[in-house]
Amino acid sequence: MAAFPQRMAPILTLWLAVCLSGALAVERANFKTCDQSAFCKRQRALNPGQSPYRALLETMELTNSRLTLQLKNDKNKVRLLLELYRLQGNITRVKINELKPLKPRYEVPDVLIREPPTEPLSLLSQDANGVVLSLGAESQRVIVSALPFRLDIMEGRDVLLSLNSRGLLAFEHLRIRKDTFSYLITGTLASVWNNVKSVFSRQADRETEEANLEDEAMLDEKDEEGMWDETFKSFTDTKPNGPTAVGLDFSLPGVEHVYGIPEHADSLRLKTTDNGDPYRLYNLDVFQYELDNPMALYGSVPVMLAHNAQRTTGMFWLNAAETWVDISSNTAGKGSSETPQTDVRWFSESGIIDVFIMLGPTPKDVFSQYASLTGTQAFPLLAALAYHQCRWNYNDQEDVLSVDAGFDEHDIPYDFIWLDIEHTDGKRYFTWDTNKFPTPKEMLQGLMDKKRKMVTIVDPHIKVDSSYKIHNEIKSQGFYTKNKDGGDYEGWCWPGSAGYPDFTREDMRAWWASMFAYDQYEGSMENLYTWNDMNEPSIFNGPEITMHKDSKHGEWEHRDLHNLYGFYVQKATAEGLIQRSGGVERPFVLTRAFFAGSQRYGAVWTGDNAAEWSHLKISIPMCLSMGLVGIAFCGADVGGFFKSPSSELLVRWYQTGAYQPFFRAHAHLDTTRREPWLFGPENTALIREVVRQRYSLLPYWYQQFYHTYHTGHPVMRPLWVEYPQDPATYTLEDEFLIGRDLLVHPVTEEGATGVTAYLPGKEEVWFDVHTFQKHNGGQNLYIPVTMSSIPVFQRGGSIIPRKLRVRRSSSCMEHDPYTLYVALSHQRAAEGELYIDDGHTFNFEKREFIHRRLSFANNNLSSVNLAPEAHFSTLSTIERIVMVGATRPTKATLKTADGQMSQLEFDFDASMSVLTLRKPGMNAGTDWTVMLQ
Ligand code: GLC
Repeated sequence: MAAFPQRMAPILTLWLAVCLSGALAVERANFKTCDQSAFCKRQRALNPGQSPYRALLETMELTNSRLTLQLKNDKNKVRLLLELYRLQGNITRVKINELKPLKPRYEVPDVLIREPPTEPLSLLSQDANGVVLSLGAESQRVIVSALPFRLDIMEGRDVLLSLNSRGLLAFEHLRIRKDTFSYLITGTLASVWNNVKSVFSRQADRETEEANLEDEAMLDEKDEEGMWDETFKSFTDTKPNGPTAVGLDFSLPGVEHVYGIPEHADSLRLKTTDNGDPYRLYNLDVFQYELDNPMALYGSVPVMLAHNAQRTTGMFWLNAAETWVDISSNTAGKGSSETPQTDVRWFSESGIIDVFIMLGPTPKDVFSQYASLTGTQAFPLLAALAYHQCRWNYNDQEDVLSVDAGFDEHDIPYDFIWLDIEHTDGKRYFTWDTNKFPTPKEMLQGLMDKKRKMVTIVDPHIKVDSSYKIHNEIKSQGFYTKNKDGGDYEGWCWPGSAGYPDFTREDMRAWWASMFAYDQYEGSMENLYTWNDMNEPSIFNGPEITMHKDSKHGEWEHRDLHNLYGFYVQKATAEGLIQRSGGVERPFVLTRAFFAGSQRYGAVWTGDNAAEWSHLKISIPMCLSMGLVGIAFCGADVGGFFKSPSSELLVRWYQTGAYQPFFRAHAHLDTTRREPWLFGPENTALIREVVRQRYSLLPYWYQQFYHTYHTGHPVMRPLWVEYPQDPATYTLEDEFLIGRDLLVHPVTEEGATGVTAYLPGKEEVWFDVHTFQKHNGGQNLYIPVTMSSIPVFQRGGSIIPRKLRVRRSSSCMEHDPYTLYVALSHQRAAEGELYIDDGHTFNFEKREFIHRRLSFANNNLSSVNLAPEAHFSTLSTIERIVMVGATRPTKATLKTADGQMSQLEFDFDASMSVLTLRKPGMNAGTDWTVMLQ
């Protein structure tokens, strides 16, 4: 404790130095390279070749849905147990564990939403070389080859994916340390026991021989440096369990493009790693992260998608320990005559091999398959899709009031204002600094009166302070994570010395959740929501700025589950917000650290980026990568966290962020203030305009999130998801789709005078949403731009609802009327949806909503009920219909649900082919048809 000020000093000096000088660079030396991570080095040192593993076919057991088989390592004689399951929805699960581990190995709990339902497996053939099983209906088979062991998943004659085809299955079995007393005892006892057995039974002779061979083989295994302890910088990681890594290779014939495995500040399409480090998945607080780099970042989703024109396949490597992923490809630098192939190799420090192979075949099938395992994006509050104003920090209540008033004065809508760590009493979360925030409820009430909301930060490091209630309770209940010696683990973070609650414990999470009750979290109200930061966990004086791997969560080491810590923090917090309202209200929780399944608990942002053009650009592939693996609600700090943006960069960032799922401006403590009106009237107007565009599009965003809640399809999508057969889309990362129907190509270059957007789909037409100009799909389109330009296109064939009367917050717009934008396809048809509910409760789960299909065909535009059994009523009407790519009618007749017919007024702009039907006025929740003649 006494050393705290000295030890913290370098960190604070570094922060200040960097923030003041403007020089940004990650402190690479704080983080391990593969070479500095003993297990990574060991695994990577193995070269492709003949696998030492054989499948012992005589041990095969096949029940209806499960195949088990022993694998034997011919070198060390250790046996593994392979389990293979066919899961519902075209998924194959392969688990490999030690047959008889010395003690249980960690299997990731709580990430799968249920035990995945299985389907029958049947044996097609078997001989001495292997086994062929049928994988259900689709002519899919799995071939298990015995010597060496490998698995091939086939469809017809095509190999879709092979496991261990490069012989890189490497499973470090648990062992007793050779130089220890227990090793000697165990070894002696084993041989005495074997001798005793052999006296009693001749049959046992063979087993004894085998056991002796195994013992000898194990004795032969050499201990290498880093197996029983490992030192990095000044940190020694003790490894009482010794080496426990697991690794496996996968080959994907015909595949040149792989995606996913966030979080990395890297391209959308993953790169080959032959000439550098593998991609690393280890949740870390990387101060001033570098771009175009496979280094680990705050979150980890071990899911990769492989794509070609025929098929999309997914791999989900369910392991929460430190993981690295190598990618190599035979196409890099070679001629095109060879069949392309991508080889992927995963390895993790502990746990077991548990991999789900999602066989698509379409990208959307893979999304649904993954969603069937880990769930879908939590359906957010409508307001959470609106604009968020954050900074480190809004200093006091007056500051909050004046920023709030600034938005009204400048006629810019916003829904949430955020308070960072300085709002607390000395970084004690769940408290307020009473000098700066003497009357939080009054402040929240003021916001509520304007239908606005607030977020406060609640980090998982708890100040060690005997006068702090939260600390005392956690301590007295024994809820802190323990250090390797059994005491409460302590590290340094914002409050100084801090404890880290053991969020892996259900009882701890329940207690944490209860702290969000209105009577526990003093000064909180219904319009107060939560931000979980530093939950990797970030520990300033820990190895790689995180927790020691040998700290303990019950019987497990932190090593086994590191990547799950942040997942649990957000889960417990979201549950707290749900419970405080008696299960009625939807929560909103933003997290920085995440894992597979985190989508179920809220939103994610890309952490501490910088006010640089390159960071603006990378926000697109970073969020696209998250969307591909289920995390749809993603955003980057608008404006950039570190440094101060030029007004041009700030405007461009607003224009980009307004079209990304989570739209929040945020800034570092040391940056100059940058509320939207501080850059002169012209820039204020530009920002106002784009924030208003976001608000008018909220009905579409909301409907997209409703859809993703049901399907797991990303909201912000790479183009290849909708145009999977068009290779021109495979590497695009400077533009994206929102849902199917809006294409956005933000301007992310300084001083840009034009951008070239790729408009996909030879059969498609695309309409500029601002000018209604029509463009054919299947072309690169050059678009001249000015500072007010945000190239956005609506797909011909779609109908998009908007609310054009933008008010000061989204909740103020609840009952406002809709304008429908109908963009006609070449076939003069269009389809869309309209989804309406109360915007904030879970009543939609009780079918209290309106869901309509809007369609235009044969000159009739109609609204039909997609959910007749659902019930909800809205005051909103349809106030206008704008049809683009239209022809001039002679007459427009509205027929409403009660059979009434009326003539509609309309305008037709012949130069742009835009038909505007004025004031049809029907209720948005009813059946109606507009007939054009
Ligand atoms: C971390 C967060 C940042 C926040 C700061 C202070 O750096 O990533 O968003 O402002 O901590 O809480």
